[in-house]
Amino acid sequence: MERRQFGPSNREVPVIGQGTWYIDSAGRANAIAALRRGLDLGMTHIDTAEMYGNAEDVVAEAIAGRRDEVFLVSKVLPQNASRTGTLAACEKSLTRLKTDRLDCYLLHWRGRHSLEETFAAFEQLRREGKILSWGVSNFDEADLEEAWKIAGAGRLVCNQVLYHLKERAIEHAVLPWCEKHSVGVVAYSPFGHADFPGPNTKEGRLLEEIAAAHHATPRQVALRFLVRRPSLFAIPKASRPEHAAENAGAGDLQLTEAEIARIDAAFPVGPRPRELPTL
Ligand SMILES: NC(=O)c1ccc[n+]([C@@H]2O[C@H](COP(=O)([O-])OP(=O)(O)OC[C@H]3O[C@@H](n4cnc5c(N)ncnc54)[C@H](OP(=O)(O)O)[C@@H]3O)[C@@H](O)[C@H]2O)c1
Repeated sequence: MERRQFGPSNREVPVIGQGTWYIDSAGRANAIAALRRGLDLGMTHIDTAEMYGNAEDVVAEAIAGRRDEVFLVSKVLPQNASRTGTLAACEKSLTRLKTDRLDCYLLHWRGRHSLEETFAAFEQLRREGKILSWGVSNFDEADLEEAWKIAGAGRLVCNQVLYHLKERAIEHAVLPWCEKHSVGVVAYSPFGHADFPGPNTKEGRLLEEIAAAHHATPRQVALRFLVRRPSLFAIPKASRPEHAAENAGAGDLQLTEAEIARIDAAFPVGPRPRELPTL
């Protein structure tokens, strides 16, 4: 499993990690087996959130006895992200996860609380050793610029964003901004949640053709395309051990420049997202 530096942190993180939204959709035993299989195969970045029902509780059981292997990420909901609310939410996540620290703590998306308040809480948690780093999620370039001005250089380690073959909007501005500022970019829903290109489509057949050349699978090819730049990581969710094992197989796959160019052409970036009017 290839690992790379996670944004400006001094931590090496696998390019392919594990998401946990609806992690127990095939039952709790399968979920725990999937996460453990993933860990065995090097997918030690585990992404969870206070929002994901009992996912933190499932993760606690999956990582019991192997906490030090894991790069553990959780998220505070925007409605809880006041100064005191963030501290309290983090304590609750730590309790559910049965750990004394998070490797990274994220603001799930922007809400009504000021970034100053949330980031002040993140910094307090960092000083106390309850989180080792922090970042954001679903931030566009204007949000990132604002966050950077408040936090200063080197604080914000990642932006976790929607990124898959059919949704490449981050490539217009968010990805370049993050690369310019050495902020890691974590691709969530890397299979489009439930919209992976099927084998009966032209695009699906291209993925199959490239996969066959590497004795790989279309999903492995897709994941590898998504982490083709040094700033990028992906966190597919698999609720079955065999799916986790397949996803881990992307961690060492190498695509040629020509294959990357073919995928790039088959799944075009699309138009730049429209600026939302400010209220
Ligand atoms: N920050 C945010 O706002 C945000 C938003 C959405 C998601 N996320 C994070 O990103 C993670 C991933 O996104 P996601 O859960 O939306 O969707 P996803 O990872 O794009 O897709 C998950 C789907 O793909 C299936 N799958 C996974 N591996 C497979 C394989 N090898 N073969 C066949 N099917 C496979 C899963 O099935 P099985 O479950 O049956 O294995 C599930 O149905 C989340 O779990 C969460 O941690 C963050």
